[in-house]
Amino acid sequence: AGAQDLANLHVLVSAGGTREPLDPVRFLGNRSSGKQGVALANAALARGARVTLVAAHLEVPPPAPHPRLSVVDVSTAESLSDAMRSAATEADIVVMAAAVADYRPENVESGKIKKSGGGPLLLRLVENPDILAGLARDKRPGQVVVGFAAETAASRDELLDLGRAKAARKGADLLALNAVGWSQGFGTDENAVVLVTGAGDVVAEAAGTKADVADALLTAALGVRGAPA
Ligand code: C5P
Repeated sequence: AGAQDLANLHVLVSAGGTREPLDPVRFLGNRSSGKQGVALANAALARGARVTLVAAHLEVPPPAPHPRLSVVDVSTAESLSDAMRSAATEADIVVMAAAVADYRPENVESGKIKKSGGGPLLLRLVENPDILAGLARDKRPGQVVVGFAAETAASRDELLDLGRAKAARKGADLLALNAVGWSQGFGTDENAVVLVTGAGDVVAEAAGTKADVADALLTAALGVRGAPA
């Protein structure tokens, strides 16, 4: 076993992507595979933490059963929010790695939506609450709240500007910024992130496998925990 620097800490991590139902057979979803969140759970377990994984439609296997692991399966943003808020009361490090739908259908049809006969179909969407911002607002003393921000940025400077503004807006202690495009970031085995604090300082950069990124993020979270803003 490697360094057990997370022993006695409880790491809560969300992974995967939410699904917002339209009718009994259809949903609005996203392309998150859950790989980065699962890698975070595995890394935290290997470093001695107690881990709660809130899993939304993972395309990869969850960590193998482990005495320090509990997995909670969720689907919609609302169910993910409920699971995170309830587990956060006992967590030391909270990581929102799941891709949460920003909007959900205003009405979920009880029957399958029929074709409208050639005309367009209009969907009315309402905004979902920002779970990360809520967790940051209600965090308990000493708790570190970490988010991800996938941005389509043209340059590193633009990525940093967007990320710093987002960290401040959401109240996150740490934000992992990554540049995404149509062929980058989702479903891949590699990732590259810049880690910025809520105050806007770059504390680390990590590129490599999602396991490498997970370890760098957990180390940075421990650093923020040791030196609260
Ligand atoms: O604003 P954006 O979606 O880029 O923010 C990404 C971060 O916020 C991720 O950590 C994601 O898990 C979280 N998020 C959330 N609730 C939402 C939307 C995003 O917690 N409704």
